[in-house]
Amino acid sequence: MKVDGSSFTDEVEPRTLLVHYLREQLGKTGTVIGCDTGNCGACTVHLDGRSVKSCSLLAVQADGHAVTTIEGLSTNGQLHPMQQAFHENHALQCGYCTPGMIMQSIDLIVDNPDPSDEDIRLGLEGNLCRCTGYQNIVKAVRAAAHQANARPADAQANTRPADAQPAGAQAVDARPADAPAAVGGVG
Ligand code: FES
Ligand code: FES
Repeated sequence: MKVDGSSFTDEVEPRTLLVHYLREQLGKTGTVIGCDTGNCGACTVHLDGRSVKSCSLLAVQADGHAVTTIEGLSTNGQLHPMQQAFHENHALQCGYCTPGMIMQSIDLIVDNPDPSDEDIRLGLEGNLCRCTGYQNIVKAVRAAAHQANARPADAQANTRPADAQPAGAQAVDARPADAPAAVGGVG
C-alpha cells in the first residue's frame, strides 16, 4: 500500500489492524489509539482520500490503496492549512485527539466547504475530545474553511493529498511530507 506518498510492501497477519500496521510496522506513531473499538476517532486516517478509523479496518483491506496519516499532511515543513488553523485557534490541549480531529476535519470541509457550526459539530461527532469542550475545534475548522474559500479558485485550500483525490474533489495543494509534533501528531 501507499502511505504518505511512499509505497510499502509487507507481510502482515490477517488479523492485523491498519492502525497497528501504521504504528508498529511503519513507525507512524502520529496516528494514535484511543479506544481500539471505533468509538473515539483518535486513529482517523484517510483511505483513498476519505476518512476512516484505522482501528476499524484490517491492514489487508488497505492493500493496493493510498493511506494518508497526520504525518503526511505538511509540505516542505509547512503545516497543512487545517493544522495551522488548529494551532492558531488553540484547538488542542493534551493533543491526543488532534491527529484524528484534523484528518476528520479535512474530510468534512472537502465535502462541505462552508459548514455551519452545527455542520462542524455533526461532522466531528465521531471524534471525541476530553479536554477542549470542542469550542476552539469548531472555531479552527470554521477558520480553515473560510481561508480555503477566500483563496482564488485555482489555489483552493484543498486539503487532501494529491494522490488520494476522490472523484470530483478540488485540486489540492497539500502533499505528504513530515509533520511536526503536537499539531502534527503525538506518539
Ligand atoms: S482508536 Fe480507533 S476509534 Fe478509537
Ligand atoms: S485535546 Fe485532549 S483529548 Fe482533545
